Amino acid sequence: MEGSTVQDKKFEVGPPSGNWQSLLLNKIVFVTGAGGAIGSSIAHTCALHGAKVVVADVNKQTADEVVKTILTDKALVQGDANNENTERVISVELDVADDTSVKNSVNAILTKWKTIDILVNNAAIFTLGEIENISAEDWTKVFNINVRGYALMAKYVVPIMKKQKSGCIINMASHSSLIAQPAFVPYSTTKGAILQMTRNLALDLGPFNIRVLSICPGTICKI
Ligand SMILES: NC(=O)c1ccc[n+]([C@@H]2O[C@H](COP(=O)([O-])OP(=O)(O)OC[C@H]3O[C@@H](n4cnc5c(N)ncnc54)[C@H](O)[C@@H]3O)[C@@H](O)[C@H]2O)c1
Repeated sequence: MEGSTVQDKKFEVGPPSGNWQSLLLNKIVFVTGAGGAIGSSIAHTCALHGAKVVVADVNKQTADEVVKTILTDKALVQGDANNENTERVISVELDVADDTSVKNSVNAILTKWKTIDILVNNAAIFTLGEIENISAEDWTKVFNINVRGYALMAKYVVPIMKKQKSGCIINMASHSSLIAQPAFVPYSTTKGAILQMTRNLALDLGPFNIRVLSICPGTICKI
């Protein structure tokens, strides 16, 4: 516009509510593979920000351990005189490669908490190797978990989000979605597919006020 400068405009800095620490308050967050390194940290952080969290993993024992760790975090225990937090973080046994398991675990949360606000598709396996050494079974398994598993979770969660006209799906991708590394073919291929799944879902679900996004971490180790 003639005569106007960037300085004339008032830009909002920070999240819309002004208090980013309460953005997750009472949101229902469903994290797959939450028994692992990254998923457990996501679940823990969401709980500290007031979310109700589903710690879902094929390994129920590690999921239970994560719930225990979160619930004994001093920051969460403080100010919880009535012990209400124990109801806010739960573990669920889930195999994302199994359609029935996905459907049942989503339905169980729906029964308990009535909705799911945020899905974190995070469960994955790291199948690596050179092309001639990867078996057909390896390819099936890695695609079933790393790609089809994300799609099945979205399949059962999206109708809930469409109904409430809001939601967010976070697909854990990787820097391996974007770059080639030696002998990373199977894992990298699945992670590349996740970026494209994310684009397509974002396009289809945007009109329903459902955001779909990917995160591409570099190498992360549990400390
Ligand atoms: N660690 C890294 O360096 C790194 C880097 C980039 C991206 N990522 C991505 O982050 C995500 C988490 O990685 P991580 O390092 O925490 O892995 P991790 O191996 O520590 O955790 C993965 C979890 O997924 C669970 N899981 C495996 N198969 C499952 C299934 N069929 N159903 C349900 N749960 C299942 C495992 O039991 C495990 O608890 C993955 O999507 C991975 O591709 C990791």
